[in-house]
Amino acid sequence: MSIIDVGTDGVERFATLARNLHDGPLQDVLATMLRLEALTHRAPPELTEELVKLSNLQRQIIRGMREACGDTSVRDGRSPVDRVVDAITVASHSLGFSPRYNIDSAFDRVADEGVVNDVVFAVRESLSNIVRHANAGWVDVSLELAGDEIQLRVRDDGSGISPAARRGNGLANLRSRAERNGGSCNFATPPPNGTLVDWRVPWVFTGSGTRSDRGRGSSANSRRASMASR
Ligand SMILES: Nc1ncnc2c1ncn2[C@@H]1O[C@H](COP(=O)(O)OP(=O)(O)O)[C@@H](O)[C@H]1O
Ligand SMILES: [Mg+2]
Repeated sequence: MSIIDVGTDGVERFATLARNLHDGPLQDVLATMLRLEALTHRAPPELTEELVKLSNLQRQIIRGMREACGDTSVRDGRSPVDRVVDAITVASHSLGFSPRYNIDSAFDRVADEGVVNDVVFAVRESLSNIVRHANAGWVDVSLELAGDEIQLRVRDDGSGISPAARRGNGLANLRSRAERNGGSCNFATPPPNGTLVDWRVPWVFTGSGTRSDRGRGSSANSRRASMASR
């Protein structure tokens, strides 16, 4: 069964994709996680910690896949800020160090599920690129609700995106997740080295935490509260 073997109508296509993902790859990841957990009990002590980290990562992957399939029951009451922090924590295992981060607490007041998902996926992809390509020594993540925008900046001190780099789906998805919300995404290589992902979408709070048309509605948005790692 192919996960792209879907019908033509948009809703039907999503439902089929979600079902096929659930019945196919998700079950495979689940089976891997169960085998890892079983292995943890038999492994020599020096491997236990790493195996526990790996099975936690699998658990996170399963949760992410279920969320991507529209299953909101897996949220465990996690707020938008929690979800961003979770994404950073997962990446820190692969990076081998903790990114510094500063997340505006007003992000919890963004009630539009689609926008929150796009921000969380943008954080994940930016960090995954750093893990895979940058060879960075430090990473800074900043998420601010400033003026009439949600602004995400992910900065690393790694190799920088070479102009000759193949543009894969990741960078294209980052850009389209911004553009479909009326925003933008730019990739810069600021001196002396590294990459800056500058991802932003227009946002003005209404009383309900949903978006008003740009330039209208209350702009009394972010009473900033920041969090810093370590
Ligand atoms: N933070 C980064 N540091 C260095 N190179 C990067 C970074 N982000 C992206 N790249 C480069 O841009 C390319 C395209 O990225 P992407 O579209 O996400 O595809 P993929 O990650 O699957 O290769 C990568 O292959 C890599 O060469
Ligand atoms: Mg990528």
